[in-house]
Amino acid sequence: MRPVRSSVLCRLLPTPFSPALRSLVLVLLCLTPRCQAVQAENVTVLEGGTAQISCRLQNYDGSIVVIQNPRRQTLFFNGTRALKDDRFQMVLFTPRLVRITLTNVSVSDEGGYFCQLYTDATHHQVATLSVSVPPETPTVEVKQEAVEGGEVELSCMSPRSKPAATLRWMRNGRAIPGVVSQQDNAKTFSVSSTIRIPVERKDNGAALSCEASHPALSGQKRIRHYRLDVYFAPTVRIVPPPGIMREGDSLSLTCSVTGNPLPRNIQWSKINDTLPERAEISGPTFQISRLSQLHNGTYLCQAQNNFGRAADHYTLLVYDNVSVTTTVPPTPTTQPITSHPVTPTLLTLVFSFDPKEPGAVVETHSAVPYAVIGGVLALLVFTVICVLIVTIWCSVRQKGSYRTREPILAWY
Ligand SMILES: *[C@@H]1O[C@H](CO)[C@@H](O)[C@H](O)[C@H]1NC(C)=O
Ligand SMILES: *[C@@H]1O[C@H](CO)[C@@H](O)[C@H](O)[C@H]1NC(C)=O
Ligand SMILES: *[C@@H]1O[C@H](CO)[C@@H](O)[C@H](O)[C@H]1NC(C)=O
Ligand SMILES: *[C@@H]1O[C@H](CO)[C@@H](O)[C@H](O)[C@H]1NC(C)=O
Ligand SMILES: *[C@@H]1O[C@H](CO)[C@@H](O)[C@H](O)[C@H]1NC(C)=O
Ligand SMILES: *[C@@H]1O[C@H](CO)[C@@H](O)[C@H](O)[C@H]1NC(C)=O
Repeated sequence: MRPVRSSVLCRLLPTPFSPALRSLVLVLLCLTPRCQAVQAENVTVLEGGTAQISCRLQNYDGSIVVIQNPRRQTLFFNGTRALKDDRFQMVLFTPRLVRITLTNVSVSDEGGYFCQLYTDATHHQVATLSVSVPPETPTVEVKQEAVEGGEVELSCMSPRSKPAATLRWMRNGRAIPGVVSQQDNAKTFSVSSTIRIPVERKDNGAALSCEASHPALSGQKRIRHYRLDVYFAPTVRIVPPPGIMREGDSLSLTCSVTGNPLPRNIQWSKINDTLPERAEISGPTFQISRLSQLHNGTYLCQAQNNFGRAADHYTLLVYDNVSVTTTVPPTPTTQPITSHPVTPTLLTLVFSFDPKEPGAVVETHSAVPYAVIGGVLALLVFTVICVLIVTIWCSVRQKGSYRTREPILAWY
């Protein structure tokens, strides 16, 4: 503490005292070897930056000023370069201030720079140079792969910073606590933060980030974004064609597959049978043009990856193209194939009114009210037509014309 106080005194002295008194006080003060005729300032600079090392002189009398590096090698001897290192430049030498600059500062330049004034008693002051190394954007390493139902272990790493960077894992704006470890590698630090989180299939693609903060970044953060890659067994679903299949129709089935990794091969097969010759398979689609009843059967779509396998089936029933008795909805299930009772749908109603299907009979219960309404409507229309015909017929007879009788009779 004393050197600081006395140096402050030295600096403050010139103003309030007359030159004679000042010299006297100085002589008195400088009788103690701690009197500061040289004053240096501490400097902090970013790695790669330029440091300014200044040395303030008091009552400079023309004596020799020597500047030394932390290894006590002389950089400048009274203004003349002594050490062959072009990064050091003397930029100022006045009776009050000596200033040198050091460009492309590295952590090895850290330490105390000596500023020595060779007077009767040798005075020196030390300027401490500190180098700050901000972290690069951290990297993320997967320590344990993420498989659904398991845990993923991720490490965020910042290999080099000074002082040590602070790492923080974030997900959806919330911090995930991690296990932090720090290693001292000769002046710089390597920091890592490791998290373990349980993962499900829904977490696939979830966004995480690791933020590095550091005093030299002045509030900003270096952020590494990471997307979770969660492995999971496939799921398979056959998208059935709408409606029922008849002879001569073409069938097109699509197998929609999920999974991570996405299964590469999709296998189509027919249970207890070989695939029909006319079947065309291209990846997830399966097609048969011009169906016949021989195509009846259960078709299977299967997929697998390293984490499991899955299958779905579709039961094809090809109906006669003239008479339809029942409709079996194509229900893809993972149960053994059973023929479920008919569920009436709007679709079957459409078929029952199809004029091209005279033989079509739809056995439904909920269709009855519609049938009644239809019948009443038909009766109404019929009545209106009858009335019209009778009216026209009467008017024609009244006029005594017979020319239009034939077409009118054709309505009967
Ligand atoms: C300069 O740094 C050194 C070492 O860190 C410290 O002891 C000294 O008090 C500092 N001086 C000033 C003026 O900050
Ligand atoms: C040291 O350098 C200063 C400034 O250039 C000069 O005034 C002074 O005379 C020099 N001292 C010696 C002993 O050469
Ligand atoms: C700065 O110093 C480093 C080594 O400390 C060196 O690799 C780099 O080339 C230097 N850069 C310049 C511009 O001199
Ligand atoms: C396949 O054949 C086996 C034995 O012949 C029989 O038990 C099984 O029900 C058949 N599966 C289908 C879907 O026809
Ligand atoms: C195919 O299925 C339809 C509907 O169940 C049935 O009427 C027909 O007899 C079946 N044909 C063959 C060859 O199994
Ligand atoms: C009905 O199917 C047969 C073959 O099964 C075909 O020859 C005939 O043309 C089809 N009729 C209609 C109206 O599609």
